[in-house]
Amino acid sequence: MKELILNDANKIPIVGFGTYQSLEEEGIESVDCAISNGYRLIDTAAFYNNEVAVGKGIKASGINREEIFVTTKLWRENLGYEVTKTELEKSLNRLNLDYIDLYLIHWPANAKNYNNWQKTNAETWRAMEELQADGKIKSIGVSNFFQEHLDALFQTAKVIPSINQIEFHPGYWQPELVEYCKKQNIVVESWSPLARGKVFGNEVLEAISKKHNKSASQVCLRWIIQHDVIAIPKSTSPKRIVENINLFDFELSAEEMKQINNLPKMGFSGELPNTWPDKF
Ligand SMILES: NC(=O)c1ccc[n+]([C@@H]2O[C@H](COP(=O)([O-])OP(=O)(O)OC[C@H]3O[C@@H](n4cnc5c(N)ncnc54)[C@H](OP(=O)(O)O)[C@@H]3O)[C@@H](O)[C@H]2O)c1
Repeated sequence: MKELILNDANKIPIVGFGTYQSLEEEGIESVDCAISNGYRLIDTAAFYNNEVAVGKGIKASGINREEIFVTTKLWRENLGYEVTKTELEKSLNRLNLDYIDLYLIHWPANAKNYNNWQKTNAETWRAMEELQADGKIKSIGVSNFFQEHLDALFQTAKVIPSINQIEFHPGYWQPELVEYCKKQNIVVESWSPLARGKVFGNEVLEAISKKHNKSASQVCLRWIIQHDVIAIPKSTSPKRIVENINLFDFELSAEEMKQINNLPKMGFSGELPNTWPDKF
């Protein structure tokens, strides 16, 4: 499996496993199945309410914890210096782990939801930097940060985020933000890489799939990793879990990459970090 090197020199697999909405037994079984089929990056979040199941799935796989790259995230209603530290402890306890490979701010504080969003993100980040220095987190990063959120963070950050996990799939891939992250040496990770199925059936994707004798899902994921972006597809079906990591025996041409880059807007979640949600 190809790995990318983060700006803190840690390595991360280019394909991982998403777990949003995979709860309890289904969560345990799907994580175990993913690891048994070669996935070494598992993505969860406090908000997903499945960290216990993910931790059990990791144990059930029998693979050494050190060989697995575990990501979890701090929920946006819990931003701030002190609360970040207590939330990380809670995640470690639920996962039954003594360190996290990557801890992300799930969504930035924004002007709609925090009086001083810049300070809230800065204080949260300061706590994350300290947790990293203490060895409780190997890499620290953000999710759903627009350039404005990154630029504000850079004013006080001692550590540049290693990752920005953003919505990225055919039909909505935020190329300007991706370019900006790459310029800042921040690796981009794609969430909803399959747009939760909303892009399947698109003619261009179907034609390219047919040509390579691959599924539309595999074409979406291959397109993502050829952008040097990490993909974390979620599935609870063993067949699809295997399918989604079987991406290394074909390559999209420059022309095919361009065709997918240029698809019209589709599959967008509607979630914008600077305006969503209205209020919590
Ligand atoms: N940072 C963030 O704000 C954020 C937001 C959203 C998601 N995420 C992360 O990103 C991960 C992936 O995103 P996602 O779960 O939203 O969506 P996704 O991975 O784009 O799509 C998952 C959906 O596609 C189906 N599917 C998976 N593989 C398939 C295949 N080969 N053929 C046909 N259908 C297939 C799954 O159904 P089955 O399970 O039935 O296979 C599921 O309904 C999440 O699980 C989560 O870890 C992060």
